[in-house]
Amino acid sequence: MTRRRIAILISGRGSNMTSLIEAARAPDFPGEIALVLSNRPGVAGLARAQEAGIATLAIDHKVFSRREGFEEELDHALRDHAIDIICLAGFMRVLTPWFVERWTGRMINIHPSLLPLFRGVHTHQRALAEGVLVHGCTVHFVVPELDAGPIIAQAAVPVVPGDTEETLAARVLAQEHIIYPQALRMICDGHARLEGDRTVFAKGWNAGGALRSPA
Ligand code: GRF
Repeated sequence: MTRRRIAILISGRGSNMTSLIEAARAPDFPGEIALVLSNRPGVAGLARAQEAGIATLAIDHKVFSRREGFEEELDHALRDHAIDIICLAGFMRVLTPWFVERWTGRMINIHPSLLPLFRGVHTHQRALAEGVLVHGCTVHFVVPELDAGPIIAQAAVPVVPGDTEETLAARVLAQEHIIYPQALRMICDGHARLEGDRTVFAKGWNAGGALRSPA
C-alpha cells in the first residue's frame, strides 16, 4: 500500500488536526500526516503537532503584501514535502482560484454545517437563529467558491431546546472528529474521488435508515 502524504493546514487549536493525526496512526491507514502548516505562528495546534512528532511549519500570511505571495510560498512548502493531499482544518485564509486549481481533487475541508446551508462563518449561531432541528458538519472538496465544493461526508446532530452556540458547537465538533478521518481515508484509498463537479464513491450504501429529530 502506498501511503499518501498529507498536509494539514490550520490557523488555531487544531482539534480536527489531532483527530486526523490519531486516525493516521492506524497501521492500515492509507496516508501519513507528513506536515502541519499554520498561517499563524504560535498557535496551539502547532505545539500539539510537534508533540505528536509531526513536521511543522508556520508561514505568516501577514509578512506578505499580496495574497499570491503567501500562496506561492505555501505551494512551494507543500511541494518540498512531496504532499499529495491537503486537509484544511480550521484554516482561516480564503484561497485564490490559482491555488485551489493547482490542488483540485486533492484538497478537502471540514465545515461546521450541513452544506449547502450556512456557508461562511458563525454557522451555529445562524442555525439557532433559523430554528433548524437538525444541524451538522460536512467534509467537501475545495473549489474556488467558498464552502461550495462537492460533498464527501456529512454528519447530522439534533438541535435541542436550551442549546447555546457552545453546546451546539460541541455536539457538532464531536461528529467532525469522526467524519473527517473517515473522509480522508476514502480520499487516500480512492473510495471517493472528484470527477468534474461531483464526488464519485466506489462503495455501495445502506439506505435503509433515517435520521429523525425529535427522535
Ligand atoms: C471547526 O469547527 C471546523 O469545522 C472549522 O473550523 C473549526 C476548527 O476547529 N472549519 P479545530 O481547530 O479543528 O479545533
